[in-house]
Amino acid sequence: MSKIKIALDGPGGAGKSSVAKAVAKQLGIFYVDTGAMYRTVGLYMKEHGISPEDTEAVISALPGVTLSVSLVDGKQLLCLDGKEVGDEIRTPEISMYASRVSAIPEVRAFLLDTQRRLADEQSVIMDGRDIGTVIFPDADVKIFLTASPEARAKRRYDELIAKGTAVTYEDVLSEMNERDRNDSSRAIAPLRPADDAILLDTSNLDFNGSVAAVAEIISRKTAPAPRMSRFYRVLHALAGWLIRFLFRIRISGKENVPKQGGYVVCANHVALVDVFTLGASFPRQLRFLAKSELFRISILAPLIRSLGAVPVKRGSGDVKAIRSSVEILNQGSLFSIFPQGHRYPGVDPADTPIKNGVGLIAYRAQAGIIPVCIKMKKQKYCLFRRTEVLIGKPITVGELGLHESGSEAYARASEIAFRELCKLGGFSRSDASENNR
Ligand code: DC
Repeated sequence: MSKIKIALDGPGGAGKSSVAKAVAKQLGIFYVDTGAMYRTVGLYMKEHGISPEDTEAVISALPGVTLSVSLVDGKQLLCLDGKEVGDEIRTPEISMYASRVSAIPEVRAFLLDTQRRLADEQSVIMDGRDIGTVIFPDADVKIFLTASPEARAKRRYDELIAKGTAVTYEDVLSEMNERDRNDSSRAIAPLRPADDAILLDTSNLDFNGSVAAVAEIISRKTAPAPRMSRFYRVLHALAGWLIRFLFRIRISGKENVPKQGGYVVCANHVALVDVFTLGASFPRQLRFLAKSELFRISILAPLIRSLGAVPVKRGSGDVKAIRSSVEILNQGSLFSIFPQGHRYPGVDPADTPIKNGVGLIAYRAQAGIIPVCIKMKKQKYCLFRRTEVLIGKPITVGELGLHESGSEAYARASEIAFRELCKLGGFSRSDASENNR
């Protein structure tokens, strides 16, 4: 594997450090704990009798903090004034010091270079609060690990008790809530998922489950795009050429299609041939769902299977279709979907209702959406008359508001994507069109 940077952010107690440590070991890369650096600065202030609330005093004391961080035998070695720092930074008191000093811009600037430098030489998984947003906006993988405050407090409580620290669950929970508030509401580098981060809620996962889920996301995000089958390549070249010729397809925005990773391709629906129009216009293979009856037609089955279609039973509900779509996206493929639900020949897409499945699927797979507008004269295919395929930039999970679940969030995300595709085609969608979900 070439050098990679993995950003693992999230609130305290979500299990970041233990999960990151295990994943680092599995992948043979280094684990960097940035929280420990803030804790060490906090420890220094405490040892020198400086209140973390006294911003001026903390800033003046910073030049005296001789902190060295190195990566030895896969582990992070932290030294303060030449002395190795151990468990003394893990007390609730130092947690609060760390949370306070980390809100001071000068403290963050003081640690920034050290953190970036650690990833210069080796592959790292770095945990913190702002790794995906500030330290490595270009990280190969960004994961935001979270869990309910109660689940996180319980884990921290168990950890502290195991170490022999006398605490109550209630105290740990209230300290955690206060720290969440500080970390999320501070003006600088507040705790929030990067727009392109994948959200992983570990409330109902045990340690092994969390490690497996994080490792799975990393392998999914770093795997090369699935190769086109030979049959698809030939068909893409020949039939693609024919379709582009017959409908004089002009494609714009091909460069917006990422080379790897699963994305939902969200297009307006004019006619059956749209599937071929899209397939002929995309530089990567597109997968889609097709009625299972089609797979029973012996001459058709191998063809649609080679085209990347996945069978879905009519009447078995959307559950299977959703699961299959999410699986396709998780394999790092592009999955096309028409949010209008059925074809609208001759109709301006801006005036049609849409369904919110696209938002739901993107949420479940934590995948971005590529909006695509199929535009032609009077919105009808006509031989040898210009058809435009306008491919937009991917919209990230964060921009879609899909770090949140729920039908409202899915509806909002579907609308954001559909509006974007309308905009690409110069169709203006009014609020009145947002109906019938
Ligand atoms: O992850 P942790 O609990 O060890 O972090 C201790 C504190 O440091 C936490 O309250 C917020 C702060 N922190 C930060 O602001 N930015 C980071 N990248 C890591 C930690």
